[in-house]
Amino acid sequence: MPSPDPDLQPVNLADGWAPGSWRTRTALQMPRYPDPGELARAEAELRTLPPLVTSWEILALRQRIADAQEGRCFLLQGGDCAEAFDGCTSEVISNRLKVLLQMSLVLVHGLRKPVVRVGRFAGQYAKPRSADTETIDGVTLPSYRGDMVNAPEFTAAARTPDPRRMVKAHARSALTMNFVRALIDGGFADLHHPEYWNLAWVGHSPLAGEYRRMVDSVADSVRFMETLSGQAVHNLRRVDFYTSHEALLLPYEEPLTRQVPRHWGWFNLSTHFPWIGMRTAALDGAHVEYFRGIRNPVAVKVGPAMKADALLRLVEALNPGNEPGRLTLIHRMGAGAIAGGLPPLLDAVRREGSRVLWVCDPMHGNTESTSNGYKTRRFANIASELEQAADLHAAAGTRLGGVHLELTGEDVTECLGGARELTERDLERAYRSSVDPRLNYEQALELAMLVVRKHGAGTTNA
Ligand code: PEP
Ligand code: CO
Repeated sequence: MPSPDPDLQPVNLADGWAPGSWRTRTALQMPRYPDPGELARAEAELRTLPPLVTSWEILALRQRIADAQEGRCFLLQGGDCAEAFDGCTSEVISNRLKVLLQMSLVLVHGLRKPVVRVGRFAGQYAKPRSADTETIDGVTLPSYRGDMVNAPEFTAAARTPDPRRMVKAHARSALTMNFVRALIDGGFADLHHPEYWNLAWVGHSPLAGEYRRMVDSVADSVRFMETLSGQAVHNLRRVDFYTSHEALLLPYEEPLTRQVPRHWGWFNLSTHFPWIGMRTAALDGAHVEYFRGIRNPVAVKVGPAMKADALLRLVEALNPGNEPGRLTLIHRMGAGAIAGGLPPLLDAVRREGSRVLWVCDPMHGNTESTSNGYKTRRFANIASELEQAADLHAAAGTRLGGVHLELTGEDVTECLGGARELTERDLERAYRSSVDPRLNYEQALELAMLVVRKHGAGTTNA
């Protein structure tokens, strides 16, 4: 007789929790839909549509995050601040995948450990905003909250929240996932052919020489292993790729929260790795209520205002069993605030013995406006926050286990500085983001090289 599947036995179903129990709490950052009937119809349709990921993949990622917590691998999470419906094209998707693959190659080579690759895509369509409305020339309209909610143009029609957009976001996410899965299964990520990931710039970038040397060295190692074993190393042909997004719009997340036949509990099947943004991380808020009951690995953004005791309560609410792989804390303090803000949090979590994966987001604390009106970030501040994070973890006896970045495979000019020393004037050339400024492919790769230099110096091993 087959033994019962241990994963069918509930271990700790959250009390009083249901996929919709968040509705009894205060839900910040939610759009006001003019027609509740239409919202209910969109939710009902989402409930019938197939999921975007499986519980098996979700549990596999949870194990990888548990490994990263122990220092056996490193997490690379990156993608757009906000995906756009019209960015669901083969070029945008494959270029973003190329940059993430190139960065992960740099990290694998330099850190000498596996990299867990997590995209900020296939669902990153809802955005928190600092104000509910925007006023231009005396006209006040709802703020743009991401393509899943409304459209960025400043007209009443574009800005009115439309629940049908959730159904479209699901479809666009499915198209994105389908293409990423097909590329990877088809050998696009094959380590034997890193030249598949080259973007046009590689020939003329100031970083090209360093990147080429790494690629050659990886190719040599692969050939060496294959010569030694007398056979092709097949598992180098396929890499794992996981998805993540800020699970902000709960009317979208709830209908995709499901039970499955072979595993106990509830899974958010819209993504492998949802996170709670800084603005919606209140302990008694709707987002924490929703997240506490799902079995996915989850993350929370931690900003400079977070106090140690509040963080410990949040950790307890989201991971009461102190389970490995369950909880990631993504700190995003800013280059000027991290030295004061982070150490008390690291100490408190270490003293409590809580198992978390610490990840640094060096983007969101470093946003500023230029004199010519662009929202930007300086590469030097991004790099500085990352370097300080590595040093602060080393001093606290904790481990920096990953990075979280906003980047694109396109040749945009949204962040200042980097190897090409982009200036405020350059921002005018190719500023395309409708929300936060992203690293372009070259700045992203430069940052991966910086992570390697910092870790290579042995500063982040706990
Ligand atoms: C984001 O990741 O785009 C974001 C809004 O971040 P945070 O919640 O850290 O401000
Ligand atoms: Co952002």
